[in-house]
Order: sequence, then structure tokens, then C-alpha cells
Amino acid sequence: MNNFDFHNPTKIVFGADTVGKLSTLVPNDARVLILFGGASAEKTGTMAEVRTALGERTVREFGGIEPNPSYETLMRAVHVVREEKIDFLLAVGGGSVIDGTKFVAAAALYDGEPWEIAQQGGANVQRALPFGSVLTLPATGSEMNNGGVVTHKATQSKLAFRSALLFPAFSILDPRKTFTLPTNQVANGLVDAFVHTTEQYLTYPVNAKVQDRFAEGLLQTLVEIAPQAVATPDDYETRANLMWTATLALNGLIGAGVPQDWATHMIGHELTALYDIDHARTLALVLPALLDVQREQKRGKLLQFGERVWGITDGTDDERIDAAIARTRAFFEGLGIPTRLSAYQLGEEAVEAVLKQLQTHGMTALGEHRDIDLARSRKILQAAL
Ligand code: NZQ
Ligand code: ZN
Repeated sequence: MNNFDFHNPTKIVFGADTVGKLSTLVPNDARVLILFGGASAEKTGTMAEVRTALGERTVREFGGIEPNPSYETLMRAVHVVREEKIDFLLAVGGGSVIDGTKFVAAAALYDGEPWEIAQQGGANVQRALPFGSVLTLPATGSEMNNGGVVTHKATQSKLAFRSALLFPAFSILDPRKTFTLPTNQVANGLVDAFVHTTEQYLTYPVNAKVQDRFAEGLLQTLVEIAPQAVATPDDYETRANLMWTATLALNGLIGAGVPQDWATHMIGHELTALYDIDHARTLALVLPALLDVQREQKRGKLLQFGERVWGITDGTDDERIDAAIARTRAFFEGLGIPTRLSAYQLGEEAVEAVLKQLQTHGMTALGEHRDIDLARSRKILQAAL
């Protein structure tokens, strides 16, 4: 096992009808800005519950944070924070709203051009406003981690940032809040959580037994609950399991003391920035191809994954790895999520466009061995055609 520091200060309040607990979670004298996305939070009644719980506090609202939140939109929120002397942020939504809130929390107190925060991956964040979240979409883990992803529309750049100052103070996880999700967003959440887990598990063995078994447990849970999660929106127990699994997939626990990959995400971010494909859908395009191209580097863990997650024990090593990748691809496709670029009418020209952006963003040494250079990324993208 590798050395590690592990610290996660986010308080989780989990369960049915827990939004009312905001009344004690948010400081009484706070000047609060509620940040939310499009129409969903209002339509589902969550905004009304939030307003009631905040009671007599001074509250402002900022809506319109889009999926894959843009720097351009978030800077308007920064302006409101500064004008209104806001000192506490509350995100109500999915990963995009929570990530956007993290960016605003840091940008509002940043001396200089806030896009530098994304360009430097958050290393330059020295102060941030405190914030909490009410999660409405289980997928990203943003509700219990210190990372975010923002898009500069003008340059089609989607960049990740993180900082020890950007953990939510608290997150409310009420599985009932997911009942209104469209099926495609539930499928996206299952795939995003699956790939967060594989990015921290499908690397090379370091004898981290409990991290491995924890990751395998999360993967098995996602596979087990997927049909019910998609078919029965108001099945509380299934949604509760989905919600907690997605949080645990990216709250730092399974990634402590093990190598991590993240190449699928980095290549995926370019696909979203260029072609506006949902985040999770880009991961389903890249992961099966990447596992195939990187099969030598990942051999030991791919065999373990095949056996422990998919029950594959027959055949030669290569046949077992082929079968594990095929089962992964079939899992995504079974959720209605394509695994080939051709499904989006993208071909060789898209491969070149993505490579150009990877180069611009310095993404030229990806993967747990830093061996995914542009030539290797080309191979991966071509294998996804
Ligand atoms: O905008 P509204 O109207 O609210 O609708 C949203 C949005 O259109 C809708 N939605 C959310 N909750 C709902 C709901 N509709 C009905 N009922 C509800 N309860 O869902 C749509 C998608 O929302 P979004 O927040 O964009 O989805 P997700 O949670 O998948 O977040 C994706 C973003 O997170 C980033 C991605 O790159 C992407 O920008 N990620 C953040 C990570 C992190 N912070 O650690 C890690 C991830 O790998 C990921 O990169
Ligand atoms: Zn993700």
C-alpha cells in the first residue's frame, strides 16, 4: 500500500425529509446565496423547502448554472457575492451546481483573474467562502470531495481544480430528491460512479486489500441496482443505495493509498467541451477502449476485476480480460449509453480535434504510469470509433 494522508471534513446528513435540517446547518447570522441550475429545483419543490428552512436569514438566489458549468455564468454569481456581501453559499442541485459553487467560493475571494484557478488546478486557492449542498443527482461525488470542473466556453476548455479549502461544510443527501430525475440522468449517474471507481481501482496491484474490496463492492452494487434504479424512480431503498454508492466512489476513501488513473476523465472532458456530450457519456466512450489499449499495464487488476466483479474465471488470461471489457461495455450499452463515437456521428476528425485540445491543456502524460501520451490517446480514441 502507498503512503497517504486522508482527511474529509464534510458532514453528511443522509435520509428522507432532511432538507429541513438546513435550519441548523447554516449559521444563523449568515448572508446566504443559494445557487441552483435550471428549472428542476423550483419545479420539484426543493427550492421552496430550502427557503422555508433558511427562515429569517438574509438570502439571495442565483439560478441558471448550466450542466458543465461555465466560467462565464459563474462570474456573474461572483459579482452577486461581492455586491451583496454574501458570506455563505448553498448549492442546490447536481454536480454542476456544486462544482460551480466551489468555483464561486474560491473566485469571490481571489485576487486576480479567477480563470487562473482552473488553469492552475486550484493550487493558487488561498481562501474560499464556506458552503454546503443539497444534492439532487447522485453521480459525481462533488458533495463530499474538494474538486470541481469548470468550462471556459470561449476557448472550449473544461478544466478540473481542487483545494483543501473546497470541501463542502455539509451535504444533505435525501434519496427522495432523486425521484424526479429523468432516466438518462440516472443512467449517467450509474456510469459516472462506476468509472470513478475504476479510475482508482483498475491500475496495478499495491496489495491494498480493503481499498480493492471496497471498490469491488461499489462496482457490484452499481451493477446490481442499475435495472431497478432506472425502472422504478420512486423506489426509495434503491435510490438510497445509489446515492451513497456514488458519494463513496469519489470521496477519497477508495483512492487512499492506491495508484490512480483519471485518463478516461481527462479525455472525456475534451469530448464534452468540444461536442457537448454529457460527462458520463464521454466516460462510456473512452473507458472500454482505454482498458483494451492499456491491457498490459492493467493486466493484474483487469483479471481481478473480471473475476471478482463479473465472475469471470474461465479461459486464458486474455480471453478473461476480453470478457471483462465486454461485460463493462454491455453494462453501459444496457443503460442506453453508447460506447462508440460513431453513435454521435463522430469520426477521425474528432480524434484529431480531441488530441489537439489535450495538447493545449498539457494532458500529454496521463494514466497511473503517465504513459498515455498523445500517441496512446490517439490509439484509445481510434479504438472507440
Ligand atoms: O439544471 P436543472 O434544471 O436543475 O436540471 C439538471 C440538469 O439538467 C437535472 N437535474 C438535477 N437534479 C434533478 C434534475 N432533474 C430532475 N430532478 C432532479 N432531482 O440534471 C441535469 C444534469 O445535472 P448536472 O448537475 O450537470 O449533472 P451531474 O451531477 O452529472 O454533474 C456533471 C458535472 O459534474 C462534473 C462533470 O464534469 C460535469 O460538469 N464532475 C464533477 C466531479 C467532482 N466534482 O468531483 C467529478 C466528476 O467526474 C465530474 O467530472
Ligand atoms: Zn466523472
